[in-house]
Amino acid sequence: MDERVISSEAEVGDSQFEQSLRPQFLRQYIGQDKVKHNLQIFIEAAKLREECLDHVLLYGPPGLGKTTLAAVIANEMGVNLRTTSGPAIERPGDLAAILTALEPGDVLFIDEIHRLPRSIEEVLYPAMEDFCLDIVIGKGPSARSVRLDLPPFTLVGATTRAGAISAPLRDRFGVLCRLEYYTEEQLKDIVVRTAEILDTSITSTGAIEMARRSRGTPRIANRLLRRVRDFAQVKGDGEITSELASQALELLQVDKKGLDHIDHKLILSIMDRFKGGPVGLDTMAASIGEESDTIEDVYEPYLLQIGFLQRTPRGRMVTNLAYEHFDREVPK
Ligand code: ADE
Repeated sequence: MDERVISSEAEVGDSQFEQSLRPQFLRQYIGQDKVKHNLQIFIEAAKLREECLDHVLLYGPPGLGKTTLAAVIANEMGVNLRTTSGPAIERPGDLAAILTALEPGDVLFIDEIHRLPRSIEEVLYPAMEDFCLDIVIGKGPSARSVRLDLPPFTLVGATTRAGAISAPLRDRFGVLCRLEYYTEEQLKDIVVRTAEILDTSITSTGAIEMARRSRGTPRIANRLLRRVRDFAQVKGDGEITSELASQALELLQVDKKGLDHIDHKLILSIMDRFKGGPVGLDTMAASIGEESDTIEDVYEPYLLQIGFLQRTPRGRMVTNLAYEHFDREVPK
C-alpha cells in the first residue's frame, strides 16, 4: 500500500499507537452497518465511473470513528488523505494553501467543521461545487477576482454537532452519515480485535465486561483496554478475565454502566442541588465546574441515550432510571 498522509491538529494527543489500532478498510471496520453499506456502494460507483467520491459529512458524538472512517474512505478510493480541522484554518489563505496542494481525487478531511469561520466557509462553497477558488487580488477600485481551478477532490467533514453547521454548507455534502453508539456486541468484537493486535489474552466474558463499560464508544473501549491490560500484567497473569476487568475498571472509577466520575458529579449535582431538575445547561455546567460545550458534546449524549437524562423545554432532568442506578429515592 502506498504511503498515506495522516496529520492533524485534531489528532494531537491521539498517539501513533491509537492509530495503529484503527481499521484501514471497510471490511475491517466493525459496526455502523448502515453507514458502511451505503459508503461501500457510493465508493464502488465512484470507482466504476472513475470519478472522485461525492463530499461526505460524518456527524455524531465523539469517539465513534469519524476520523477512522475518513482514512478508510481514502484507502478504499486508493487516494491520499489530507487532514486538518475547523479551528486550524484561520484565514482564507490557509484553506487556499491546502486546496491548491491537493492531488486529483484526494480526500480532504476537516474535523470539527462546525468551527470553520463563516468567511472561510464561503471560500469552500465554489471549491466543493465547481472545484475552483475565487481569489480577490488588490484592494479598493482596482480589486479584481481571479478564478483558480482546483483538482477534483472529496471533502469529508466531521462534526459532533450537525445542528451547528450552516444550511448552505450542509447542503453541499452529497452524502450525510450519522454515526450511532455501538452495541455491546460490536464493542466486544472491537475489544477482541484490539486485544489481538496488542497481543493480549482476553476471555470472552472479559471482553463483554469491557464492552459494557465503554459508553458505546470504541475510543473509550480501546483506552480502557490498554489500562486493564496494564492491570492484568502487574496484578494477574496477563490474561483479562471478567473479574479482573471489573476490578480494574472499578479502580479506574468506571462504573457498571461505563459512567465515570464526571458523569457521577453531573447526575448527583442535579439530584442534590436541583431536586432532579429541570435545570439549564449552563447552570448545570457551572455547578460542577465543567464547560457547557463539553457537557453538551461529550457527557450528555450518552446519558440521554441510556435514559438517565431527559431534555425538556425547561432544562435537563434526571430520570427514575438514574435514581435507581445511584440507589437513591425518587423525590416526591
Ligand atoms: N477500532 C476502533 N474502532 C473500530 C471499529 N469500528 N472497527 C474495528 N476496530 C476499531
